[in-house]
Amino acid sequence: MEDYIVFGKHPLDGKLKVYGAKNAVLPILAGSVLSGGVVLLKNCPRLSDVSYTLDILDRLGCKTAFDGDEIIINPAGVCSRPVAAGGGDMRSSVNFLGALLGRFGEAELPMPGGCRLGRRPIDIHVRALRTMGVKVETAGGMIYAKGWPKAADVYLDFPSVGATENVILAAVTAPGITVLNNAAREPEIGDLCRFLRAMGAKIRGEGGDMIRIEGVERLDGCEYTVMPDRIVAATYMCAVMTAGGRLEIENAVRPHLEETAAVLSRCGGEISWAPDRVTVRAPGLIVPCGTVRTGVYPGFPTDCQSQVMAVMACGPGPSVMIENIFESRFNIVPELRRMGADIRISGREAVVRGGNLHGAELRAADLRGGAALVVAALGAEGESRVSGIEYIARGYRDLAGELRQAGARIETVPTKG
Ligand code: UD1
Repeated sequence: MEDYIVFGKHPLDGKLKVYGAKNAVLPILAGSVLSGGVVLLKNCPRLSDVSYTLDILDRLGCKTAFDGDEIIINPAGVCSRPVAAGGGDMRSSVNFLGALLGRFGEAELPMPGGCRLGRRPIDIHVRALRTMGVKVETAGGMIYAKGWPKAADVYLDFPSVGATENVILAAVTAPGITVLNNAAREPEIGDLCRFLRAMGAKIRGEGGDMIRIEGVERLDGCEYTVMPDRIVAATYMCAVMTAGGRLEIENAVRPHLEETAAVLSRCGGEISWAPDRVTVRAPGLIVPCGTVRTGVYPGFPTDCQSQVMAVMACGPGPSVMIENIFESRFNIVPELRRMGADIRISGREAVVRGGNLHGAELRAADLRGGAALVVAALGAEGESRVSGIEYIARGYRDLAGELRQAGARIETVPTKG
């Protein structure tokens, strides 16, 4: 086990390139079990969640290989088996539900583990699949689903990202036309649809709230390049805001980052766009940015909430963060307080005052919260130790190494004792 030692107040100056998106590649990997041929995926990030998903594919009988940033999946030997428990709180194993139903008319997998963002129920997935004629039961920490998905008119009570992906995966080979209403609009859903279309699927309307899927008889192999990770790009943007200096971020897709960029510019950051890239110049002083509310896409993403709160805490404030998507996503608050921030929480709302943060011993408790602690430590006086960095590895290839390339002073050291 390792920790990061972060030395604050070293301005960044350089260029970083964003790699493929975790939240896009995970459902795409699950979707590859639907393929009748070999799938070649490019721009895949090396992350622990990706390795875990490849293990699931291997255990289902697929042959997988990860070379450079390319993954090859040969699903010729895939068979219907329970997805093994394990993989901790990796929620996206739930994507195998729709994919296995589409392939075998049955699926057995562990309930997505309780992660530390509050309850993470799957009732929306279950109701949607039942509308498609699938029998779904949950018992003893497992999900049991049986029956070939049938085309249907499906309505989601809330535009859940995972449920939208599961319905699409279940519907692409279901005879007839499935209409998915109140679908999530996150860009990663668009990536899944483009991937499935590359295999021969007939899908229209992704990016809007009504998606129309016409079932096809079979899907073929394909070659597909995964979209860049908008949350990684946003994390880099936050890192330069607190560390100071200037950072050019390549592979930044403007429409995906518009909300985060708007908030950071309200905090005083200077943001300039060019095709495929964004440059962020940090302000001398982070100024209060009013109230930021997380929302479904195209709203401000919950996955950037902790990193932006770390930015808020590096200025005097007050700024307000309201978390509307997850119940308990304020894991970093006690850590930021330990660095000298004054944060008052009432329900879903946090009022953040800060300014002269100092280094401290910090513990990551979730993926984005862990990255946010690095962001805060870059803006603090002196040295911070961040433990629990295995959470960060779920969604960042090598956060310390990448930020080092841009001038940050971060060391990776063995965990104490
Ligand atoms: C995905 C992302 C995650 C992101 C989230 C919201 C992946 C692998 N993960 O997670 O990084 O933070 O979208 O943008 O893509 N809910 C229910 N019942 C359900 C499903 C969801 O109540 O059946 C609730 C959840 O508890 C949560 C909210 O809906 O409060 C959003 O969840 P959802 O959109 O499903 O997120 P995920 O797909 O889990």
